[in-house]
Amino acid sequence: MPKLTFTQTGETFDLAPGTSLLVFCQETQTPQTFGCTVGHCGACICRVTNGGENLNPPSEGELETLEQLESGEGARLGCQLEIQGDVTIAPA
Ligand code: FES
Repeated sequence: MPKLTFTQTGETFDLAPGTSLLVFCQETQTPQTFGCTVGHCGACICRVTNGGENLNPPSEGELETLEQLESGEGARLGCQLEIQGDVTIAPA
């Protein structure tokens, strides 16, 4: 079962494979900022510090938004993430 860890709080959660980070955070009131929820605004930008290979690859739209935000290494849009294995997420 995949483990999701937030460096900001140190909390770790067990998730079903394929869980959407957006849906998980909405259902559990986890403090992660979201805006448009469709990969355009960048409000949900975060940094994957471990387990990036356990996420769905970024779509072209996500890559375009990340490029516009001039994001650094490991940056992803939280609203676009599907978790397949252990992942650690930090603020961007
Ligand atoms: S909430 Fe807008 S890009 Fe993710």
